[in-house]
Amino acid sequence: MNMLTLIEKKKRGEALSEAEIRFFITGYIGGEIPDYQASALLMAVCFMGMDAAETQALTQAMAESGERADLSGIPGIKVDKHSTGGVADTTTLIAAPLAAACGVPVAKMSGRGLGHTGGTLDKLAAIPGMRTSFTVRELMRLVERVGIAVVGQTGDLAPADRMLYALRDVTATVDSPPLIASSIMSKKIAAGCQALALDVKFGSGAFNPTPERAYELARTMAELGRLSGVRTTALITDMNEPLGRRVGNGLEVAEALDVLSGRIAGGRLLSVALALAAEMLTLGGIAPTPEAARPLLMRALQEGRGMEKLLEMVAAQGGDAAALERPGTLWPVRRVEEVLAGRDGYVARIDARAVGRAAGLIGAGRFRKDDVIDPAVGVTMHCRLGDAVHRGDPLATLHINAEGHAAEAR
Ligand code: URA
Repeated sequence: MNMLTLIEKKKRGEALSEAEIRFFITGYIGGEIPDYQASALLMAVCFMGMDAAETQALTQAMAESGERADLSGIPGIKVDKHSTGGVADTTTLIAAPLAAACGVPVAKMSGRGLGHTGGTLDKLAAIPGMRTSFTVRELMRLVERVGIAVVGQTGDLAPADRMLYALRDVTATVDSPPLIASSIMSKKIAAGCQALALDVKFGSGAFNPTPERAYELARTMAELGRLSGVRTTALITDMNEPLGRRVGNGLEVAEALDVLSGRIAGGRLLSVALALAAEMLTLGGIAPTPEAARPLLMRALQEGRGMEKLLEMVAAQGGDAAALERPGTLWPVRRVEEVLAGRDGYVARIDARAVGRAAGLIGAGRFRKDDVIDPAVGVTMHCRLGDAVHRGDPLATLHINAEGHAAEAR
């Protein structure tokens, strides 16, 4: 078997066998298959797709590419959540601590930013001292002690996804349903969660353009979960505008803190986070239905228990929890630039992908695998779909530290 034949086969739209898919995954993580051949195969998958059997084989091969966590020693149903990727989507930092505060053991494996979308690991990296790299044993201890851990893929859990994820990010091979489904489900299976709440997004800032495509992806992932014994539910949510108001790593942590502390008391970010947390409570057996979970979550939010849980998690993972009380001083920006409305009217469309890309261009994203992210930069949105605006009103603020791409970002 050789890689060139696999690339040729997929380029012609033929299905790869399970053995061929395993050959690719083993060879890539072992360093025998170079990035350029892996990229060519990924691009062929983007164009030609994969059928259900290939997607299942890819997911299994990736899940088995490293160690698998056994969290059965921790009492309770271990629940994870995952989003297919969006802009200003900080729901993990709100939903996961709220669910943990209500008694759901949360073992969450997160990723870095991908394409124009943000990633929880990059957001957590904005917190001074915060560690997200742990061994499986350490992950178990954190969940036992704190009730929640949000970690990255350690070298030993689904390393194939960690490597392919970084490669897809810089080769424009993210928005392929089988690659997204296998990426998400392989790491969830490897991380040993028993149940999973998915947030499958559609719209201008998502990898799925339409609700129909999001629904298809949700079905594929639920089936992959079922085949591996992970109870999976999915919400289909709208990403036709940034979910929160702030885009950028430090800015998004600050927004999550504002929501958990009650400084932001409404809005779509909170409502999607509560809907996901309600799914987590239901999957975790804390509430019989998402509706019944709502009052428990609202009480935890109002009593500040979500905030306490987030700070406890940050401290347990080595982060400076006290510094989070003063986020304005944590991530100083040198310069801000306003984007103003050119005329009177209504906001009819927001290109959320362009907003995510703009944040990336000024330093919140990566263009090469090892680009370093600036936690202070990003975009604050001042308008939402349907808002009336007057000429000269600020639509968005660019938070800029380095010179360079601000003009392109505008
Ligand atoms: N999240 C992931 O973990 N992988 C993807 O491919 C997309 C979103």
